[in-house]
Amino acid sequence: MIPIARPQMGDEEKELVWSAMSSGALAQGARVRELEERFADFIGVPHAVATSSGTTALHLALLASEVGQGDEVITVPFTFFASASTILFTGARPVFVDVDEASFNIDVAQIEAAITPRTRAIMPVSLYGQPADLPAIAEIAERRGLALVEDAAQSHGASIGDRRSGSWGAGCFSFYPTKNMTTGEGGIVTTSDAAVADRARLLREHGMRVRYRHEIVGYNFRMTDIHASIGLAQLPKLPAYNARRRAIAARYDRELQGVIAPHVAPGVTHVYHQYTIRAHRRDEFVELLKERGVGTGIYYPIPVHRQKPMLELGYGDQRFPVSERLSGEVLSIPVHPSLTDDEVDSVIAAVNAVASELGPLPAAVTA
Ligand SMILES: Cc1ncc(COP(=O)(O)O)c(C=O)c1O
Repeated sequence: MIPIARPQMGDEEKELVWSAMSSGALAQGARVRELEERFADFIGVPHAVATSSGTTALHLALLASEVGQGDEVITVPFTFFASASTILFTGARPVFVDVDEASFNIDVAQIEAAITPRTRAIMPVSLYGQPADLPAIAEIAERRGLALVEDAAQSHGASIGDRRSGSWGAGCFSFYPTKNMTTGEGGIVTTSDAAVADRARLLREHGMRVRYRHEIVGYNFRMTDIHASIGLAQLPKLPAYNARRRAIAARYDRELQGVIAPHVAPGVTHVYHQYTIRAHRRDEFVELLKERGVGTGIYYPIPVHRQKPMLELGYGDQRFPVSERLSGEVLSIPVHPSLTDDEVDSVIAAVNAVASELGPLPAAVTA
């Protein structure tokens, strides 16, 4: 079976982890600071604050942007649940805006209508490794006095023009094992705003600048030096990993037939955390690919507003037609950098055979 993900750990990771472990300094320390400096540099911002996960990065960035009780945060329903749960953690309420059918990212044209006097922030999600339309969203946020907290959990190294995802507002990345780079578990917040970075550091560590002097009620969202060591070994490899993902995706774009992938706008560098297609009779498609030895993933089978906790919060009557339709049609195929050319050939042959067996998406759906 060709798996949907295959995290890569080399000698560099092992050596750096071993050196952190043998130093005796295991918790957040010099290696976390080094990863923050290098990652900030990579994204092109002055500040980065490492965390224990992508989820705690989002939670921290929202808190550091002063989102709290009674506020509203605009985000999409076609995403991982953590985009919305972290808004709920702060006491704020997610306000959903549907995604655009071409890019699968937030439909910028619908954002302004969702802004109310309670809106405090906009959280676009750069889904599958493709940045949302961040320049347009930043313009709206700036004009309406809102914070921009990007869920960049899947978009390490993606860019629009020469500017990286994570450099508009606060960028929140995940270093979960299947991501384009990993620390095992981990995350990071990137920002050009010194005040946001300062609040994030304070909130990350029990509200302390000085040991046992608590200025505010904070959290323990720290990354360990062991995890940071994995990240320090992975970061230099990220550009080559992303280049390989993009080369495989370019072959899929050229050679797959009878399926639809998200449109990538000119000037956008998509880093293909996932290569996702819309397919007719998706669940049968997945089964038939499995029979042919191709692993798949469905990101995401139920839109967030239809998840049980959101139904209990009264979101059940809301309709987001594009997100709802995509949830029934999407499947992701392997695009990770360790795929061999033979494996890529096999994926292409299998997808084309299954697509021709099941037929194309009906025209009404693709319109
Ligand atoms: C879009 C999105 N947001 C948030 C997260 C949360 O990141 P983590 O799993 O590192 O907590 C993920 C990761 O799965 C994600 O894909």
